[in-house]
Amino acid sequence: MAGVTDRPFRMLCKRMGAGYAVSEMVASNPRLWGTDRTRRRMDHAGEVAPIAVQIAGADPALMADAARYNVDRGAQIIDINMGCPAKKVCNAAAGSALLSNERLVAEIVAAVVRAVDVPVTLKIRTGASPGERNAVTIARIAEDAGVAALAVHGRTRACLFAGPVEFATVRAVKRAARIPVFANGDITTPERARDVLAYTGADALMIGRGAHGRPWLFREITHFLATGARLPAPTVDEAQRAIVEHLGDHYAFYGAELGVRIARRHLHRYTEQLTGAAEFRTAINAAESTDAQYAAVARFFEGLAGEGERLRYGDDGAEEASFVDNFRGAAQRSPRQTWFREALAA
Ligand SMILES: Cc1cc2nc3c(=O)[nH]c(=O)nc-3n(C[C@H](O)[C@H](O)[C@H](O)COP(=O)(O)O)c2cc1C
Repeated sequence: MAGVTDRPFRMLCKRMGAGYAVSEMVASNPRLWGTDRTRRRMDHAGEVAPIAVQIAGADPALMADAARYNVDRGAQIIDINMGCPAKKVCNAAAGSALLSNERLVAEIVAAVVRAVDVPVTLKIRTGASPGERNAVTIARIAEDAGVAALAVHGRTRACLFAGPVEFATVRAVKRAARIPVFANGDITTPERARDVLAYTGADALMIGRGAHGRPWLFREITHFLATGARLPAPTVDEAQRAIVEHLGDHYAFYGAELGVRIARRHLHRYTEQLTGAAEFRTAINAAESTDAQYAAVARFFEGLAGEGERLRYGDDGAEEASFVDNFRGAAQRSPRQTWFREALAA
């Protein structure tokens, strides 16, 4: 996720049990490679393997060059972005805009696969719009060109991030493809992870927003899939230590000034749904130095320690209650769970 999955955050996610993490997207346009932002996105020092770098662009030759350039700088897997719906990316006919041009998709994946001797993976949406779902065709094009694995965000480009995830399409892709398929979209709990895996038959799950602010989700899912039991939430003390360690890595990576600005989005996400979040948000927005951010975090966790030994999220249980209701057919109106109704009907 651009702006989120920088190297310090990826390393944290791997410490918390993620088996794999992909870099923020890197533009294929070489004029951008000298900028501080792109240089940071290509910096993998100390990162645990496999190092996967995502590239974005619409010109096969430039994408091939970008793939080679990143492999020379440590990438062990190249991922191609055909999922981003952002205007800035789609106006350059890249990201999910490519899904409307299957011939160009074929040219890009073939050029990138030919250019490097590491695995090339592809990230897509289900199509350009609900009337133009072509994920199964794209999957065939990708595997014919030698793509090693495919991640599918179960929404179309037009759907952006709204509406139910079409796991039925992800399942259709999995059934049609010979290469591994990752299911992606709105996976935020261990129970949802189990059900998406069971329904789609996917080989892996890809998790974005659910882990932002809750990187322990990875170990919680791993534990749940292995044992069927929920791992307790982290203790307040452990969460504080993990966040402070993340901040240390983060400031070292970005420097103090930029680091303080970018850390706000992580700190907001860590504390959403915890007691004292509103006051903390105000304090973090006002904090202009690393010391002030550390002090605000310490005050926040002091307050939380009085609430109990472990983190207790305000939204705990809400999602799963509605999910279980739906499963039993008792609450068919819940818009959040329509994918499951579609799945049962399919
Ligand atoms: C802030 C943000 C940035 C994102 N950046 C990227 C990106 O650079 N490359 C990509 O393939 N997907 C990107 N995505 C999409 C996510 O990888 C993922 O497909 C989508 O959020 C659905 O999964 P989720 O519900 O688990 O978040 C981004 C999503 C968000 C919210």
